[in-house]
Amino acid sequence: MDSFIAWVGGKKLLRKEIVNRFPEDGFKKYVEVFGGAGWVLFYKEKHAEKEVYNDINSELVNLFKNVKFHPEAVAKELELTLSAREIFEKYKAADVRQMTEIQRAARYLYLIKLSYGATVRSFGCRARNAVDMESLQRVKSRLDGVLIENKSFAKLIPAQDGAGTLFYCDPPYHNTEKYYDTGEDGFGEEMHIFLRDTLKGIKGKFILSYNDDEFIRELYKDFVIEEVERSDNLKMAMGEKGSRYKELIIRNY
Ligand SMILES: C[S@@+](CC[C@H](N)C(=O)[O-])C[C@H]1O[C@@H](n2cnc3c(N)ncnc32)[C@H](O)[C@@H]1O
Repeated sequence: MDSFIAWVGGKKLLRKEIVNRFPEDGFKKYVEVFGGAGWVLFYKEKHAEKEVYNDINSELVNLFKNVKFHPEAVAKELELTLSAREIFEKYKAADVRQMTEIQRAARYLYLIKLSYGATVRSFGCRARNAVDMESLQRVKSRLDGVLIENKSFAKLIPAQDGAGTLFYCDPPYHNTEKYYDTGEDGFGEEMHIFLRDTLKGIKGKFILSYNDDEFIRELYKDFVIEEVERSDNLKMAMGEKGSRYKELIIRNY
């Protein structure tokens, strides 16, 4: 199934390539470390044992939790809300500390749906519904049994590691970190190195997606690196026909 939201760096176009490379001999626990919109989680088969969705962005995680437990209440909050720049700016400037979790979830859903490129930063100038109740209900049942976490990868990976764990990691791509709220530690080169070092020491398996970049290739030279190519939607939209975009899928198995 599809995710209920678009997200910067969302893996709608790469999800099949990733799932096709999951370990053939299976795994007991699936952990999506940099969850975002969860395109891979929603695409893969529901795992019988344990699944974890995680992201450092607390507004996004609060949205996932409230869609899991109270989708009707989130939808009701947005029932009479129009698609308008004034409302977008008001929501953007709102003090979330003064809101309930459901109000916060509704606010963030509105900002994602109506922003340009799902960046949550500027109004997308397109009239569109923030709520699709059918899709929220599907997501609610898919998230049944999924543990939703709000941690940095540095804490999540050691806490969830084990011989039967598969980690899917989709960190901010090298040099695109500024598009995300990355918490107080940010996501500079030292974080990419720290992620590699953390993954190097795990007992479980990992599969990782990244942009094709010399720094990343050097960082993961001891692992299996595969290059995958897809059409570059952004350049195609700007009239550059046949533009291709290269990504890397990296594994420790
Ligand atoms: C490329 S996006 C993931 C997209 C996701 N795979 C999808 O299909 O929608 C990267 C995500 O990493 C999250 N992130 C950034 N720094 C993080 C950290 N230190 N620990 C965990 N998540 C982090 C961002 O909030 C963002 O949602």
